[in-house]
Amino acid sequence: MRVVEVTAYGGPEVLRMARRPEPEAGDVPGRVRVRLKAAGVNQADLRIRAGVYADEVGDLKPPFVLGTDFAGKLLDPVPGMAAGTRVAGFVPWWEELTGEGTYAEVVRVAPEWVAPIPDDVDYTVAASIPLASATAQQSLDRLGLAAGSTLVVTGASGVVGRLALQYAAAAGLRVVAVAHEGDEHELKVLGAEHSVTRGTPEDVVRKVLDFIPEGVDAVFDGALHAAPVLPVVKDGGAFVALAANRTPAPERNIRVETVRGKPDAARLKETLEKVAAREVITRVADVMPLEEVAEAHRRAEAGHRPGRMILMI
Ligand SMILES: NC(=O)c1ccc[n+]([C@@H]2O[C@H](COP(=O)([O-])OP(=O)(O)OC[C@H]3O[C@@H](n4cnc5c(N)ncnc54)[C@H](OP(=O)(O)O)[C@@H]3O)[C@@H](O)[C@H]2O)c1
Repeated sequence: MRVVEVTAYGGPEVLRMARRPEPEAGDVPGRVRVRLKAAGVNQADLRIRAGVYADEVGDLKPPFVLGTDFAGKLLDPVPGMAAGTRVAGFVPWWEELTGEGTYAEVVRVAPEWVAPIPDDVDYTVAASIPLASATAQQSLDRLGLAAGSTLVVTGASGVVGRLALQYAAAAGLRVVAVAHEGDEHELKVLGAEHSVTRGTPEDVVRKVLDFIPEGVDAVFDGALHAAPVLPVVKDGGAFVALAANRTPAPERNIRVETVRGKPDAARLKETLEKVAAREVITRVADVMPLEEVAEAHRRAEAGHRPGRMILMI
């Protein structure tokens, strides 16, 4: 089968098309196979490829296959889903360091990672959601804010931030979204009470405090600003970070949490149904063939435009 291998840690040029034997039914106990139609390009993929996560990936040495999010068809049945069912999910790469990621025609997954894709959702959209949605939902769970609380979402034009903003607004939170320039109005349509254009973290703090002078109850830090945006949180508030190395030290009784999204198939199923009903809106930036993976990584790294870059397989 066709796969993309990381041949050495480095820039997008280290990504190469290669051929590997296709997994066979039952060759790894407890795992089933999915024939992929689409794979998402996550920020974590870029960092693993670049060697930035060397501490976290441990013994994982090139060549290995990258990739986390997937959408495709089950090749083997799982409880409640026949072979042939359209499914999506993500491989929790930090726990599953097999080097057999989702930039491949066939992947092995645990049945509890996969959710069915409704007919009205195409593979590219489905592949943009799993890791981002789990991260957004579990981060908001960790914040545990009551309806009416104020929340700043940085990186709200990004895939995780956009979902966090919508889930927070649906839970009755008052959201201030930090937007990619030009997205301010759209983020209000998605539920933000107010949106400010991205800038330096100091700009963000100033603009938010202009709107809510007493400070907000919490920050969801989708842009990984970390400590420089902490001044926007009121004493005793909360802050959720999405990367261990972008987690500020607590101060002023602010509770600081670091979250890693974990697969939750039941919730992913609900989310995909909401996407089908247009109750949750996500954004795909570009769809490119697997063979153009290096260019997809270049665009994702350049912040070319907000939304998930999708590889068609
Ligand atoms: N902990 C976990 O389990 C987990 C899971 C998924 C993702 N993540 C992390 O969460 C972050 C968001 O993921 P994503 O998939 O939403 O990525 P994304 O789609 O690339 O979005 C990132 C957003 O952050 C903004 N941003 C980035 N750098 C910025 C800067 N220096 N100043 C201001 N804004 C900046 C970008 O703004 P523009 O649109 O204006 O460029 C973009 O909208 C990533 O860093 C990713 O690694 C963590």
